[in-house]
Amino acid sequence: MSVVVRRVGPEAAAEVLAVVREAFGDRSPLDPPADALGDDAASIARLLRRRGGLLAEVDGRPVGCVVLDPAPDGLVLRRFGVTPDAQGQGVATALVEAAVEAAAGRSAVRVLAREELPGTVAFWEGHGFVVTGRSSPYVELARWLGTTFDAPDAETMRGLGERLGRTLVAGDLVVLTGELGAGKTTFTQGLGAGLDVRGGVTSPTFVIARVHPALGDGPDLVHVDAYRLGGLDELDDLDLDASLEDSVTVVEWGAGLAEGLAESRLEVVIERSVGDHPGGADEEALDPRRVSLRWVVGQ
Ligand SMILES: Nc1ncnc2c1ncn2[C@@H]1O[C@H](COP(=O)(O)OP(=O)(O)O)[C@@H](O)[C@H]1O
Ligand SMILES: [Mg+2]
Repeated sequence: MSVVVRRVGPEAAAEVLAVVREAFGDRSPLDPPADALGDDAASIARLLRRRGGLLAEVDGRPVGCVVLDPAPDGLVLRRFGVTPDAQGQGVATALVEAAVEAAAGRSAVRVLAREELPGTVAFWEGHGFVVTGRSSPYVELARWLGTTFDAPDAETMRGLGERLGRTLVAGDLVVLTGELGAGKTTFTQGLGAGLDVRGGVTSPTFVIARVHPALGDGPDLVHVDAYRLGGLDELDDLDLDASLEDSVTVVEWGAGLAEGLAESRLEVVIERSVGDHPGGADEEALDPRRVSLRWVVGQ
């Protein structure tokens, strides 16, 4: 028996609601009651609209869920629950690890636990969370994540892009900063792989923007090179075969230009690591980069 965790959006509201009701309905009543007990399909769909959630299944049956809610200081987990019959099978742990993956590029994963439920607080502490505050009846916890990564070679850079690509959803904007040859296009190749779009990501310098259609159900990738643009206000008029709300948009050289395109964005800064690495005539020598990530989340 294995636990499968999949990413879901508002279309899965009914399934998520069923898990929430089973999981939260089984707990002893709290005062005030858990928000989850007041949920209906519409409220769950609303919660899922921003970044979706995760549904855990055992033998194809939904048994666990969590809603992912982006905040300026990290990804907040809401409606985290496992149905009573599926407890003790590692479902909760699988959900936590998938949520941490989904938070890649953010500084923390955060959660609120009820102070009346010390077992719940202990669960989060057992999964690397620390208590960051208390405001009765809630205990605030966070698990800190790194936002700076070393990419010793191009393959690692692609791998980092791929991991992030798996976390992106329609409407997301990624702004890439780094000198010529830093690895912005290489990173974007990885993003394309993680998003599962048609490949062939190359520098779009001479076409300004290129659309890579999704191979599955996910969003298309719109790859923009702003190197020669004075502004991106007209991007929507570029006659792209994709709308930005339905796509993931990646803009090289976009800092200071692309910010207005979306409420939230992932800023990626790529720098050549300086100092002690072999260089010179050896073509096999590592040419490491440092990648810093920052999510800027609007309301
Ligand atoms: N650690 C590394 N990270 C990314 N690219 C690297 C690295 N080491 C070498 N490279 C090479 O550097 C070049 C980066 O080019 P590219 O991704 O087009 O940069 P940019 O789009 O920022 O101008 C590629 O040829 C890539 O193979
Ligand atoms: Mg490039």
